[in-house]
Amino acid sequence: MTSVLSPFGPVEADLERLRQNLTRLVSAKHPILATAAEHLFSAGGKGIRPAIVLLIARATTPDGEITPRHWRLAEITEMIHTASLVHDDVIDTADVRRGIDTVNTLFDNRVAVLAGDYLFGQAAWYLANLDNLEVVKLLSKVIMDLPEGEVRQSLTRFDPDVSMEDYLAKSFYKTASLMSGSSKASGLLSGVEPEVAERLFDFGRDLGIAFQIVDDLLDFTASAETLGKPVGSDLSQGNLTAPVLFALQEFPQMRELILTELEDPQDLKQVLEWVYQSEGIPRSRQLARDYAHRAAEALHSLPDSLARRALFQMVDYVLERLR
Ligand code: FPP
Ligand code: MG
Ligand code: MG
Repeated sequence: MTSVLSPFGPVEADLERLRQNLTRLVSAKHPILATAAEHLFSAGGKGIRPAIVLLIARATTPDGEITPRHWRLAEITEMIHTASLVHDDVIDTADVRRGIDTVNTLFDNRVAVLAGDYLFGQAAWYLANLDNLEVVKLLSKVIMDLPEGEVRQSLTRFDPDVSMEDYLAKSFYKTASLMSGSSKASGLLSGVEPEVAERLFDFGRDLGIAFQIVDDLLDFTASAETLGKPVGSDLSQGNLTAPVLFALQEFPQMRELILTELEDPQDLKQVLEWVYQSEGIPRSRQLARDYAHRAAEALHSLPDSLARRALFQMVDYVLERLR
């Protein structure tokens, strides 16, 4: 992706350097982690989170430069994200991610738990060494929010009474917290005004929620081949996302079936049909667009630059997955 239209354009070379640094940082001490790390950071992740940190750095520093502390923040952000995925794949007993074997498949759960812990530990250490208490507090809150989202999700499995507010709050903890915290932190490291820092938080939060809604939509609209898992996987695991919650308003008879935990494949099929017949999918699309629109609005707090334009494109990029 070298096109100027790509949101990654202005930081593409930076992201490559970041991946190499991350592998070196993480693998310095333990060969087994070296293998896991190599595997993790070269595993086809797009690097949307570190890209946002680096783009905000370029958009907020006087010469559009990325300082060593911004580099570190981008690394910490990707470490936290990767650690949470390694643990998530253990919890979800997932064999593959982005088409390649997960750490728990390649090694086992023991190694995956350790590799995740190791990454979280390293992230905390490098975070503390940024010597910026506000940034430490922001990112520590993120590390607290991730399991909060995961716990909320697991406590509300197959609960048809879960509200849209609960769903959005869970999405904040699970996905948007890291994007909002790291966006604001990047601005803070550049010394932006407090109002701008708040708007950067809003940007990351609204982009993150849009991102999660799109992800949840794809579970219904993408092919099993693209997803690398069966269509309706979230639903079959009891994770009731925006399309289902909207559909429940039109087809209250879904409740009863959901309460059976959809163990009968016919019931799962019936609930899926109701979701497709309802306005659940178009309404979720609109909800994602609304959040994306708000994310873009928050960017107006930054002066115009190539990097800011790339951040606007990042918003479009998140929605593009809807097509
Ligand atoms: C992916 O969601 C998972 C997350 C966004 C967060 C997972 C967080 C944890 C497991 C808690 C982290 C633990 C500590 C100690 C901080 P998904 O399973 O819905 O999506 P997927 O399709 O990418 O697997
Ligand atoms: Mg998962
Ligand atoms: Mg999960």
